[in-house]
Amino acid sequence: MSTVIIRDATHDDADALLAVHQAAIGTLGREAYTEGECESWAFGLTSSGYVNSMDAGETFVAAICADTLAAFCSYMDNEIAGLFVHPQWSRQRVASKLLSTAEGRMRQSGVKKIILDAAASAVPFYQAAGYVIECQTPWRTRGGLSLSSYRMTKDC
Ligand SMILES: CC(C)(COP(=O)(O)OP(=O)(O)OC[C@H]1O[C@@H](n2cnc3c(N)ncnc32)[C@H](O)[C@@H]1OP(=O)(O)O)[C@@H](O)C(=O)NCCC(=O)NCCS
Repeated sequence: MSTVIIRDATHDDADALLAVHQAAIGTLGREAYTEGECESWAFGLTSSGYVNSMDAGETFVAAICADTLAAFCSYMDNEIAGLFVHPQWSRQRVASKLLSTAEGRMRQSGVKKIILDAAASAVPFYQAAGYVIECQTPWRTRGGLSLSSYRMTKDC
């Protein structure tokens, strides 16, 4: 694949973040959830939500492929908050590059154990990246449906 550029996302990327987020859930999320469950997961996403999250201290790292925002990973403190890849760019190690970037920064800031709540569609990816399942966690999606998710951790 072409070169992947990793950079921090800004407020100006909000619309592109939304497009990636919706496409990832709607297509790749279907590996583990029904169409209705994915709709409930994606329900209520807005561009302003990313702006608000950035302003609240969440860092968004973006992957740029062929001049397009193709994926993002967000994190705060010791937690990976989100990781989404546009289906056009899946299984090309884009998420792995973003996760390594976030992990490296967390490690440098003194984090000893990284935590995240993984959607079932992402569990094989995180396991391949060295995360282990601690327990199943309740997850009430924005659309109201309750889905299964998994608390996973990795020692730095
Ligand atoms: C999970 C996700 C982020 C992975 O992104 P990606 O860029 O395709 O992942 P990578 O190419 O870096 O995958 C690295 C390795 O993880 C594993 N992996 C990734 N996706 C996998 C899948 N669907 N099934 C099984 N293993 C998978 C593989 O070992 C893969 O290496 P390989 O392709 O050489 O076999 C992406 O599929 C996605 O956005 N899914 C939908 C949204 C989601 O569930 N996000 C997480 C929310 S908590």
